Amino acid sequence: MGYNDFKTRLQKIADIGFASAILSWDQETYMPQKGADFRARQLSTLAGVSHKMYTDEGFGKILAVLKNDASLTQKETKNVSLTLEDYEKQKRYSTEFVEEMSRTVSECFMAWQAAKEKNDFSVYAPKLEKLVALKRKECEILGYKGHPYNALLDQYEKGTTTAEVEQLFEEVKKELVPFVKKIAAAQQVDDGFFYKHYDKQKQWELGIELLKQMGYDFEAGRQDISSHPFTIHFNAQDVRVTTRINENDLSEMIWSCIHEGGHGLYEQGLPAEQYGLPLGETVSLGIHESQSRLWENNVGRSLNYWKKNFSLVQQYFPEQLKDVSAEDFYKGMNKVAPSFIRTSADELTYHFHVLIRFEIEKLLIEGKVNVNDLPELWNSKYKEYLDITVPDFSKGILQDIHWSHGSFGYFPTYSIGSFYAAQFFAQAQKEITGLDTQISEGELLPLLNWLRDKVHQHGKMYTAAELCEKITGEKLNFRYFMNYATRKYAGIYHLSE
Ligand code: CO
Repeated sequence: MGYNDFKTRLQKIADIGFASAILSWDQETYMPQKGADFRARQLSTLAGVSHKMYTDEGFGKILAVLKNDASLTQKETKNVSLTLEDYEKQKRYSTEFVEEMSRTVSECFMAWQAAKEKNDFSVYAPKLEKLVALKRKECEILGYKGHPYNALLDQYEKGTTTAEVEQLFEEVKKELVPFVKKIAAAQQVDDGFFYKHYDKQKQWELGIELLKQMGYDFEAGRQDISSHPFTIHFNAQDVRVTTRINENDLSEMIWSCIHEGGHGLYEQGLPAEQYGLPLGETVSLGIHESQSRLWENNVGRSLNYWKKNFSLVQQYFPEQLKDVSAEDFYKGMNKVAPSFIRTSADELTYHFHVLIRFEIEKLLIEGKVNVNDLPELWNSKYKEYLDITVPDFSKGILQDIHWSHGSFGYFPTYSIGSFYAAQFFAQAQKEITGLDTQISEGELLPLLNWLRDKVHQHGKMYTAAELCEKITGEKLNFRYFMNYATRKYAGIYHLSE
């Protein structure tokens, strides 16, 4: 039994996983409504087959032999050790637990949809309570050092601890909260022109142009429409993004295209020869999000980027934007204002939404709060951090899909991703001569090549923390985000720094 047996086995498991991914992609884009029940069945069958292949004793034997094989290259050794870790984790789950979890998640998800529709939390609460209890059990199954939430966090952001996330959010509270208060006291910027009528087809064509400029490879990908934008890959040569278009809000399409484009570029940059193996996969959700946010915010919401691209937008929409300058456009897209919905928040108050979810999740996992008390807790935190009064459940506690899916420990990766993005971008500015000028001329390939070299090509060779050290010489540091925010928004809102 050698490395080739291992590789063949893992790549076959990947074939099944990616075949399921195509079914999921189709479900979100083109599948007719009536296909839903059979599609769920097909997906579940494939998940079962792949789980069985993965946790099978024979595979365990291959891994045990390879673990001590000194003839393997460094990359091969890494593929084996990462797979072994994951294998041992998967083996801890009993079949009964996996089935119970999957059943509870389905019930909880359906209850959440119904609750959202009826704007009634009580429909959802008992199912969520059951799911939280299972999640607490899962922490015990997985094992952890320190806080039980570490076990959940580890599934999305391996190696990151609750204490580290708490530390980051302490800095958010200490620095970002007062900074946003300062902005709130300043003269507000105008973003009204985004909400005129923008033709769907023209928006679509503009989005494609923006993606091409970023270096997204349409021979190894495509874009489609879906209700929630997402990125999915079946291998590095077939990475698909989706967008949504609102004819009464130009900004939705622009930043969903750039954001998903950033995710897509990461996946197109993974080493194709490592297909199905850990070194052919992305590092973590936080690093994935760092790539989307870097393009969306550090590039896509910068004045430099629009020096070139605003004239392009004006060519598509001369009438709507005839009285708007590139500078107005830039200021409008960076309007900071507290809001109820996380996904449409500006890049600063966004982190308060994440902070609130993190604090609540932690209490749930600690068993210190009852599910029935969540709406009140949620609303009081929105009052505390954003100074707004949540009007109803759907604009409050029912807005996110995550908890109904059992995704606890996921939210912090959104903020972690933005903070990594700021740190990486600051490093890119140091290392790429003339980066700002390039961006202002629409030359984005030097930046893409830098990201390919520093992040994309490595797959899972390094953990997020190791990668960050390797790229920037230090661990994740909130100061980079805060510096970026202070400089940018002091300019937009004429604040004294
Ligand atoms: Co994203």
